[in-house]
Amino acid sequence: MTKRKLQRFAENEIFSNLIQPKLVYPPVDDKIKGAWKQEFFRNSQPIVLELGCGRGEYTVNMATMFPHNNYVGIDFKGARLWRGAKTALENHMQHVGFLRIQIQYIESYFAQGEVDEVWITFPDPQPQQSREQKRLTSPRFISMYRNILREGGIVHLKTDNYDLFQYTMDIIDKNKFRLLASTDDLYSSELKEEELKIQTTYEKIFLQQGARICYLKFMLA
Ligand SMILES: C[S@@+](CC[C@H](N)C(=O)[O-])C[C@H]1O[C@@H](n2cnc3c(N)ncnc32)[C@H](O)[C@@H]1O
Repeated sequence: MTKRKLQRFAENEIFSNLIQPKLVYPPVDDKIKGAWKQEFFRNSQPIVLELGCGRGEYTVNMATMFPHNNYVGIDFKGARLWRGAKTALENHMQHVGFLRIQIQYIESYFAQGEVDEVWITFPDPQPQQSREQKRLTSPRFISMYRNILREGGIVHLKTDNYDLFQYTMDIIDKNKFRLLASTDDLYSSELKEEELKIQTTYEKIFLQQGARICYLKFMLA
């Protein structure tokens, strides 16, 4: 491991805005479950999650745009989370937190209806059929989101991967979820919301490679 990575891991240990639970298997409910607003944020603002947040660009930038929400960036890679957590601390963003977990255990960390919105930003597309269960918009993950989202809660997906976009459209169709926005070419579309212009580390790489960005917004009704 590089010296820089070790330094980041050491800093992560003392960051007040980063929760790094011990891995236990089978997973058990964490004490933060159901207590985010009261114990962590100490306010009653809605909670928005960024799943597979990497360096947390969506988390930090949306928190700047919408200070009346709380944001939690989730990823299992500590060195990436360090970047987002450090920026949020430097900017005194008390409505931002980071959680280092495997997303498949998310129901151990959020109670039913505790979350208002979920953003999935450039997830690994897991193209092999044998890895369908690992796609963050597969029925397996959607049923977890359904358990933690409030009624009428919204899911956003931003991806460069057209197949994952199509796959997710099929899931929306089959389950009769309410499609709120959809494009396979975001920057040529009529969608102009400021938050859609936030660009993550991966998005910038994909754009440089000439990729088109796909976006979906839907309600798990
Ligand atoms: C392609 S990267 C995108 C990162 C960031 N959203 C961006 O756009 O720059 C996918 C991220 O998802 C995280 N990830 C993938 N599967 C995960 C899982 N099951 N639990 C937690 N994080 C996961 C990886 O660690 C990685 O940081």
